[in-house]
Amino acid sequence: MCGIVGYVGENQAAPILLDGLYKLEYRGYDSAGIAVYGEDGIKVVKARGRLKVLDEMTHGGEMLPGTMGIGHTRWATHGAPNDTNAHPHFNKDESIVVVHNGIIENYLKLKKKLESKGYEFCSDTDTEVVAHLLDYYYDGNPLTAISKIMHRVEGSYALGILFKDHPGEVYAVRKDSPLIVGRAKGGNLIASDVPAVLKYTRSVYFIDNEEIAKLTRDTITFYNIDEEPLQKTPTEIAWDITAAEKGGYEYFMLKEIYEQPKAIADTLNPRIKDGRIVIEELKMSDDEMRQIRKIFIVACGSAYHTGVTSKYVFEGLARIPVEVDLASEFRYRSPILDEQTLVIIISQSGETADSLAALRLAKSQGVRTLGIVNVVGSSIAREADNVIYTWAGPEIAVATTKAYSTQLIAEYLLALKFAQVRGTVTDEEMEGYIRELKMIPDQVELTLGNKEKIQKFANRYLAAKDIFFIGRGIDYAISMEGSLKLKEISYIHSDAYAAGELKHGTISLIEEGTLVTAVLTQEELYKKTMSNMVEVRSRGAFVMAVTNTGNQEVEKTADFVIYIPQTNKYFTNSLAIIPLQLFGYYVALGRGCDVDKPRNLAKSVTVE
Ligand code: F6R
Repeated sequence: MCGIVGYVGENQAAPILLDGLYKLEYRGYDSAGIAVYGEDGIKVVKARGRLKVLDEMTHGGEMLPGTMGIGHTRWATHGAPNDTNAHPHFNKDESIVVVHNGIIENYLKLKKKLESKGYEFCSDTDTEVVAHLLDYYYDGNPLTAISKIMHRVEGSYALGILFKDHPGEVYAVRKDSPLIVGRAKGGNLIASDVPAVLKYTRSVYFIDNEEIAKLTRDTITFYNIDEEPLQKTPTEIAWDITAAEKGGYEYFMLKEIYEQPKAIADTLNPRIKDGRIVIEELKMSDDEMRQIRKIFIVACGSAYHTGVTSKYVFEGLARIPVEVDLASEFRYRSPILDEQTLVIIISQSGETADSLAALRLAKSQGVRTLGIVNVVGSSIAREADNVIYTWAGPEIAVATTKAYSTQLIAEYLLALKFAQVRGTVTDEEMEGYIRELKMIPDQVELTLGNKEKIQKFANRYLAAKDIFFIGRGIDYAISMEGSLKLKEISYIHSDAYAAGELKHGTISLIEEGTLVTAVLTQEELYKKTMSNMVEVRSRGAFVMAVTNTGNQEVEKTADFVIYIPQTNKYFTNSLAIIPLQLFGYYVALGRGCDVDKPRNLAKSVTVE
């Protein structure tokens, strides 16, 4: 989704803005632009396409002198991705300029009203409404104009704003779209996400909903919607700039795949103390945990897939019924919730619009909520009653890998915690689970050793038309994620099927040479899935299998096998997903795809 940066300080703004926008590229975009306030007023340059175009047009920002400005990468929602619709957007006399992330839901109504008052629009965007509305309300006081538009505008927004009458001041405001403020030496910054400011500072303020920030070179002041000053405390970001850089890898995705052993260990180790699961941030007493009769796990995309796995884990270990929902469905389906329900929202970014709406729906019904979130200080982390952080560090590649893996770990820990409190596992069993959990980081490392074998195999499938994934139980959940990883970055059509469903229609898709990837990590289901492999193979499919070490039997029915180390049946997803991530990565790489920034996708889906 769109990325916003802003700077006011003692240095040239444009190179800082471009640099910040490069750090936000991962969010996905189709055009970019910057506005810089220099001696001749506010100058805007914008262009469709990659940031490189804007970079070249402005000679790395040199052509735009001035020490304050705002910048934007646009992911088109209203109006085609072209130069005109790219941000920033001016008011008529070019005295107010705006960048925006989010959607102004009542923009048509506002546009009509403004047109009736003589305002003319040159773009198809909802954002231009904000520039003209600010103009309409502006009487010399930026704060008052901003506060007034906040009362009029419906929807979500993070805005960066410059006023020609107020040199040396950058304004920012947000509602339901992320925006942070960085306090740096010699200047201050705004951005949609932390990586954009890390080069200059680790001291960051999270702007809350309906708060306004006013930045000058040396000061940062926050206000509420009534223009009353607010006190806020900065957060020190623990990770440094190298965490948000490629460090010699060709793509962030591969780097992040390789960071998984560490990310898993960071998420796991602090929560195991003296042989027990201790989740310090969990503000639920043992009694409260015992009272829970039903859990809803709600998320989108890959995070949803971890939820599908966790249903088996929670139900198996803690004996609590679990429903798993896509957030975009949950929010509109009137779920039956009561005081004995726990709603768990899983989100890497903590800003996904549907997941946030699902969280708010649950809260509005007085239901206890818990977020499993990677981005510290994000909306879901702040609004959920409880939050468990996944310590994956910054995830830049659009296709998630290490955040997915750490979500699984957080969910295993939570399921075991429930099991511990509710007495559904014995001390001896708990010891075994913990021993096996602790082995996962090394076992992931070991599984990564299959890299070359998988790359070679992947190269045979660069021209594939369809690739299917099959499995049962947790293996079906793993298949769903394996299939998504492949299709989202390689653009090869792929689907995952519960293996038992093949006969009910989908087996007709199998043709001579179709690749079917079978996942077999659940011992009690081996034979069943192997029968399905025989069925597709006898119809011409080529079968790749991912299974546990020791299940040599599978070689009789598979053409290519990847073995993963033995672990507890509930934790196999953490290992089996590794070869599937590598497979998707190498197919996409071989096809020459932009692995980190797949077409049409955004890292943080902040609009519905
Ligand atoms: C796929 C992927 C997405 C996200 C989904 C939810 O690789 O990354 O499917 O999992 O958009 O995002 P978060 O976890 O930020 O809520």
